[in-house]
Amino acid sequence: MCGIVGYVGRERQQDARDVLVGGLSNLEYRGYDSAGVALANGDVTVVKREGEVDELVGALDERAPSSAPVGIGHTRWSTHGEPSDENAHPHTDCTGEVAVVHNGIIENYDQLRAELREGGHEFESGTDTEVVPHLIEEALEAGADRDAAFRDAIDRLEGSYAIAAVFEDDETVFAARQDSPLVIGVGDDGYYLASDVPAFIDYTDRVCYLEDGQFARIDAETMSVTDADGKPVETSLSTVEWDAEDAGKSGYDHYMLKEIHEQPRALRKCLRERVDGIDGSVDLDLDRLDDADRIHLVACGTSYHAALYGAQVLRERGVPAQAFVASEYDRTTLAGETPLVIGVTQSGETADTLGALRTARAAGAETLAVTNTVGSTAARECDQALYVRAGPEIGVAATKTFASQQLALHAFALWHSADSIDPERIDALRSLPDQVQSVLDDADVESIAAEYADSSAFFFIGRGHNHPVALEGALKLKEITYEHAEGFPAGELKHGPLALMEDDAPVIALVTGDGERARKTLNNVKEVQSRGAPVIAVTDGRLDVEQYANHVLTVPETDPTLAPLLANVQLQLLAYWIAARLGRPIDKPRHLAKSVTVE
Ligand code: F6R
Repeated sequence: MCGIVGYVGRERQQDARDVLVGGLSNLEYRGYDSAGVALANGDVTVVKREGEVDELVGALDERAPSSAPVGIGHTRWSTHGEPSDENAHPHTDCTGEVAVVHNGIIENYDQLRAELREGGHEFESGTDTEVVPHLIEEALEAGADRDAAFRDAIDRLEGSYAIAAVFEDDETVFAARQDSPLVIGVGDDGYYLASDVPAFIDYTDRVCYLEDGQFARIDAETMSVTDADGKPVETSLSTVEWDAEDAGKSGYDHYMLKEIHEQPRALRKCLRERVDGIDGSVDLDLDRLDDADRIHLVACGTSYHAALYGAQVLRERGVPAQAFVASEYDRTTLAGETPLVIGVTQSGETADTLGALRTARAAGAETLAVTNTVGSTAARECDQALYVRAGPEIGVAATKTFASQQLALHAFALWHSADSIDPERIDALRSLPDQVQSVLDDADVESIAAEYADSSAFFFIGRGHNHPVALEGALKLKEITYEHAEGFPAGELKHGPLALMEDDAPVIALVTGDGERARKTLNNVKEVQSRGAPVIAVTDGRLDVEQYANHVLTVPETDPTLAPLLANVQLQLLAYWIAARLGRPIDKPRHLAKSVTVE
């Protein structure tokens, strides 16, 4: 949802251009339809291009100054104005004195644009952002100094923003945040600014997260953070717990494949010092939650699927719990009650999820963020945070974070009903990382992917705990292959979707365990098979699925509540290899961005 980056270097130890281009490449998961930088070296030089950061590099070779100590950059996921050179950021004022990059949406831009036009300002783009440099210009003309002009402009904006600006003849980056993330990196060679830490993790792991309503200035020697009234704010630095290696591809062709393979490690980290195999206890380092006799989980996309799974595990442990798509959650959903509301969000920045959490808080509900991102808005705004500890996820399609969210929610359900933890469940949880590793080691999906890559559609079915994973399998496949895919509760097939069964549309059936649910799903497999659709079954072999399926993908036996986490690995690999076969840009699927900070 757009990534921004800024840099001010000390004694020209590094060229801002190199830092910005590297930072933008690492932020491309936030948007990749255009990219640009503004380099300040006396004059401000803006270079921007439609397309990915690689396109920008070619343009920079032609147009950028030989070196610059200061700059800002942007990679865009368009909201206002289609992807084009003109609509790419940075945007400038009429004189070219100031350049601005922005992530978010300026809701009153139409009105501001009209006012500025009346004052003689001309616009070159169709973006909401372009009003900002013109507002700064107007304030400068009215006699404000740069600091005041930047504040004046920001004060006039309604909406969400992380904004950075540079001026000519000034080695300073000005920044402000409201409802879009912004973090400062404190390096030995200068200061960094970005939407997210991967932008500068190559240079520093010491960070300061800005809060909503705060302004920041960085120059080569200092950083200062002030509140909306201009009063200095005491800042604290934290250390990021992962490094540049974690954010790289480590020899894999795609981040997605690397992140699928990182799942055993991510799951181990999620459990570490939380789930004790010796005394069978679960300790999540959370304060007891007062209102947790009823729980709502709010989330979007993949995280919603994890929330569906978490709600099921909670319900089984006697806690009334329900998952909601965050954008559909409002006061009427709360129906006058104040449950504990859990926001499940990898990024901690998804606008829909933050909106649902704010609705809950305004109604007096206690809130818990289950997130991967330390210092994120969700983590800071909620009463408490439970970190899933998956490490940085760069591929737009969520993989390891889904597994870690499911595991963290499972552990939460056990912690919440700690009186009756079954030691076998603890053993199963602790064995899960190794079992995921064995699925990865034995996986043999490529030839199946090759056989079905050209299918007309893909249907995923599962019951109970396998239902959210069926939904996730379909989401993953459609997201990265652009092929039609749908997930259903297996029992729903006969209520409509059965009409879609064709011999070129495989059904991927999740049949784990040997209980009633698995047996009923096996019956659904037979229904599908008799109607001529090919079946790819994911099974732990406890039922005789093989004779009804064209292909079988196996997973080890485990507790039935955890089997979906193993089955999901096979579905991730299937989606990946079909997308690879179709030659899709797997890490950056069209029209999508990883962190969706608009509603
Ligand atoms: C799909 C995917 C999205 C996100 C959704 C919520 O692979 O990644 O569906 O799950 O946009 O994002 P977070 O979890 O950051 O709130």
